[in-house]
Amino acid sequence: MKILVTGANGMLAKSVRKRLEGNELICTDVEDLDITNEDDVLKKVAEVKPEYIINCAAYTAVDKAETAGEIVEKINADGPRNLAKAAKENDCVLVHVSTDYVFGGDLDVEKDYKEDDPKAPVTAYGITKLKGEEAIEANTDKYYIFRTAWLYGDGNNFVRTMLKLGDTKDEISVVNDQHGSPTYAEDLANFIAEAIEKKIPYGVYNATNEGYTTWFDFTKAIFEDAGIICKVNPVSTEKYIEMMKVTQAKRPKNSQLSKDKLKNAGIEVPEWEDALKRYLKAEGRM
Ligand SMILES: NC(=O)c1ccc[n+]([C@@H]2O[C@H](COP(=O)([O-])OP(=O)(O)OC[C@H]3O[C@@H](n4cnc5c(N)ncnc54)[C@H](O)[C@@H]3O)[C@@H](O)[C@H]2O)c1
Repeated sequence: MKILVTGANGMLAKSVRKRLEGNELICTDVEDLDITNEDDVLKKVAEVKPEYIINCAAYTAVDKAETAGEIVEKINADGPRNLAKAAKENDCVLVHVSTDYVFGGDLDVEKDYKEDDPKAPVTAYGITKLKGEEAIEANTDKYYIFRTAWLYGDGNNFVRTMLKLGDTKDEISVVNDQHGSPTYAEDLANFIAEAIEKKIPYGVYNATNEGYTTWFDFTKAIFEDAGIICKVNPVSTEKYIEMMKVTQAKRPKNSQLSKDKLKNAGIEVPEWEDALKRYLKAEGRM
């Protein structure tokens, strides 16, 4: 298969490239294909004529996005729109990655979000990612949108940060009132590859690892698996912000996404505990 990958130097893209090795991959990042430039995108896609475009490009700095201005919307909404137009014109399939932040995040934690639940983003990141989804839906029919959350892989991420802290501190505080599913980039890359390979129905899919936890319990699992002795104290988000003196974009209390649709399409979704162990082994920490 001929596949154009955008944002190809990012964390998820590294796993996507690895998983799809053996295919004809045309990898681009902002230096050679800026997805915000409509003319360049249309020209590139017409030139390459891929069967699939996998868009791994995004403005992903959630806190900075609050004050970064129009660049966030350009990358997260105009970029996917340009890619969708190019996909439609060249009859190829667009694969895009979105986020739990398109939801309000205030759902009762006994429940999880289904794909079609009402959207209510409250951050610049979430608002622009939702606009990106809508722009794709308005411009082409052949698309996959995978909504993920709490992603970690080959790049700066929560697990690496906790390992560093655990190695150097005796005690840390981690929030225990945000609920979600840590997601290994290798598993998300596999969902994407399997969707293409099995030709599952087009549409929007929630795509995280299975099972739900909190950042606090996730941290305890990281330390336990990696054999790190460091006390983890549970704190509320409010208390954490006060203790660390940080300004943050609003975080969802509930990032839990139901994977029923993905599983019903025939894709296996590994548990987050299993994924974490595979990651720590790959990082040489287990
Ligand atoms: N990291 C997370 O926890 C998380 C959570 C939910 C959803 N997501 C989504 O998953 C996807 C992948 O995230 P990631 O963590 O791998 O991102 P990343 O920040 O590691 O990589 C993003 C890539 O996009 C590229 N890029 C930025 N602007 C561009 C432009 N104008 N044109 C072309 N390329 C550009 C960057 O150079 C970078 O290589 C994104 O869509 C993101 O919104 C991530």
